[in-house]
Order: sequence, then structure tokens, then C-alpha cells
Amino acid sequence: MTDTETNPETDGGIDTGTGTESGYDDDSRGGATPVPIADPQLSADARERVTAILEDGRLADGPEVRAFEEEFATYCGTEKGVATSNGTTALHAALEAVGLDDGDAVITSPFSFVASANAIRLAGGTPVFADIDPETYTLDPADVRRILTDRDDVVGLLPVHLYGLPADMSALCTIADEHDLFVVEDACQAHGAKVDGDRVGTCGDAACFSFYPTKNMTTGEGGMVVTDRDDVADRAASFVNHGRDVSGTGGYDHVALGHNFRMTSIAAAIGRVQLERLPQFNRARRENAAVYDEELADLPLETPTVPTDRRHVYHQYTVRTDDRDALAATLAERDVGTGIYYETPIHRQPAYETVSTAAAQLPAAERAADEVLSLPVHQGLSAGDRRTVIEAVRDHFTTQ
Ligand SMILES: Cc1ncc(COP(=O)(O)O)c(C=O)c1O
Repeated sequence: MTDTETNPETDGGIDTGTGTESGYDDDSRGGATPVPIADPQLSADARERVTAILEDGRLADGPEVRAFEEEFATYCGTEKGVATSNGTTALHAALEAVGLDDGDAVITSPFSFVASANAIRLAGGTPVFADIDPETYTLDPADVRRILTDRDDVVGLLPVHLYGLPADMSALCTIADEHDLFVVEDACQAHGAKVDGDRVGTCGDAACFSFYPTKNMTTGEGGMVVTDRDDVADRAASFVNHGRDVSGTGGYDHVALGHNFRMTSIAAAIGRVQLERLPQFNRARRENAAVYDEELADLPLETPTVPTDRRHVYHQYTVRTDDRDALAATLAERDVGTGIYYETPIHRQPAYETVSTAAAQLPAAERAADEVLSLPVHQGLSAGDRRTVIEAVRDHFTTQ
């Protein structure tokens, strides 16, 4: 594994691990066990910036949010950023902005946090599930092609960069071009991940991020749409602010129906500090993953596969084994937090019983749901924490 970053730079939604979400890193855990599955690192700088916002008094949408949008878009290598209240609203706004109409079908992954498909439904569309690639857990381009030969109502693709690993964007974007489909990337778990040297967010029409506390960077709750398309940025910015005319004077001209999906200035202030630290956080995650790759290589489990064109940022370090539940139990006994992302694929969720292709057979997603287990890989891990995790996993397999 190589890290091309040179400057010092959970899930899935809800943290099902046993860890706490202790806050500021100047009073951190100090390497003591238990080892949580997630541990957001906030700094004294974030506290100072939030205090400054409280003193300033402009708590809602304002200059701090505009500055965060610009800085996050620059980080991603895109022209525009539109801040939102969370990752789900970012996806919803992006889908509206690329022109999803009621009843349109969008192909997505069944092996994701439910928000990926919920956003399609909330925007009036119908999620159609294609199976995942069993090695990378991301949307399988071959299955996408199979679906496109059967249906003519598909208008877009919503690939998910699961666990911090980008989907096969070069194959998916080729398919999108051939079939004239939009591509909205669900990058909610993949801040700073790369495809062919470019950060995610630059491949599709728009990409959406979440800043939930378990993610590689956080604002508490928050989200962002990034895009190179001015029209998409304008429509998303309007949609998250009750359809207000973005070209206007800031008055009450509402040119379309919209929501209040705005980010607060407090969230943006935290986000700006977290963004400065994201390269360092991602480097720590990648270093932790490299140690696990090496130390777990001889065990009867599969460590993450990273295709050569992609840079993984390890939102999760997910292993797979048919002994998953027993391994999770051993780690719980050893006070090591783990997470199963996701035990029930979206097509089998009760809320999806009536949704198109919900009953479909999606064997790779089904198998992954039975076998995956995420280990703590976050930037708050000490070398001692890593050792605790490695020894617990090794003991599980070697003392059986
Ligand atoms: C893949 C994926 N998509 C969408 C979301 C939704 O983000 P949020 O929880 O910020 O609404 C999440 C977050 O948990 C996610 O992991």
C-alpha cells in the first residue's frame, strides 16, 4: 500500500459498535482499552472556532458555511460545494438537482446504509438494486449492464463508495455515457478516496458526503454535495433553501419547491477545522489498515481488496469470514468494538418490501451480509489499541 499524500493532512450512519464517541482529542482515551469502533477527534481549534461563531451570533446559514463549501470543493477538486444538514439530504438534493423525475428508476447498491436507497425514494424515484462485486463490495458493473438490457426506465446510477473504497467508476461512467444516465456518487463514507489519482466527487455529475460523527471527518451532523456543474450546484443550493432563487438578491423569491436542508454555521466551523486535519486522519487510517493487512494475512479471513486504480481511505476496515458471529463475540469479550455494516441488505429491509427489485436474488450482497465484520481502524487508535485488536483476532483463530 502506498500513500501519495504528502501534506500533513461510523455505519455506516449509526454506530452499532460497542465504542463510545468521546469528543476532544486533548482529553482522549490515552490508548486505554476498550477499543471503540469509532472515536471522532475534535481539537481545541474546533472549540475556539465554535466559540467565535457563538459570539458572532450568525448561527444558521452564513459566511462560515460558504467558506466551508468552497474549501471542501477545493479539497475534492470540484468547482462547487453545497452544504447540507446531513448526507441523506445531500443525496436527496443532488438527485433533485440532476433532474430525477417521479417514477424514474435509479440503479444502486443493496449493500449500503439504507440512506442510499431512501434518498432515491424521497426524491420520487425508484431504486433498482444491482448486485455487488464480491471482492470490493461495491456496485458490480456487469450486473448494472444486465439490468439495463431488461429495463428502459433507468435514468441514473448511484454507486456507493463503501467503507472508503471507491466503486469501479471508470466502468460505471462508461456505462452511464453509453446509456445517457446521470451518476450521483454516494461518497458518504469516502472523504479523500481516489480513483486514478483523482478524488471521488470528480467522476460523476455530483457526489455526496456525510459528516456524521463516525465518518473520516465530522461536523456533528452535516453533508455536502460537490459538483463541476454550475446548473447542478445552483439547483441543489436552491433546493436546500426552500427553492430560493440563488441568482437573486437574497430576498424571498422562491422559484421552486424545496426543503430546509441547510447546514448551520456551528457545523461548518467544526467542518473547516476537521477538513484541515482530514489528510492526517486518512493517513492514520491507512497506516492502521496496512498493519492489519500484514498481521492478519496468514489467518483464515479475507482482508480488504484494493484494486490498483483506487485509493482506499478505510472508513471501515472490513474483514470477511464464515465464522463472523463467533469472531465478533470473541472481540466483544476482549473489549474490542466491532460493527456489521450491513447485516440486512437494503432489499430485505421491511421498508423495501414493496419496492422494485426488493425481492430480487442478489447473491453477492446476501453473502457479504452474512460474513463481513468491521474492526476499529479510526484515527484515534494507538499502537497499543492496534495490538489489542490484532491479538484478539489472532487468538480467536489460533486457539480454536
Ligand atoms: C453510504 C452512506 N450513504 C448515506 C449516508 C447518510 O448520511 P447521514 O447519516 O449523514 O444522513 C450514510 C451515513 O451514514 C452512509 O454511510
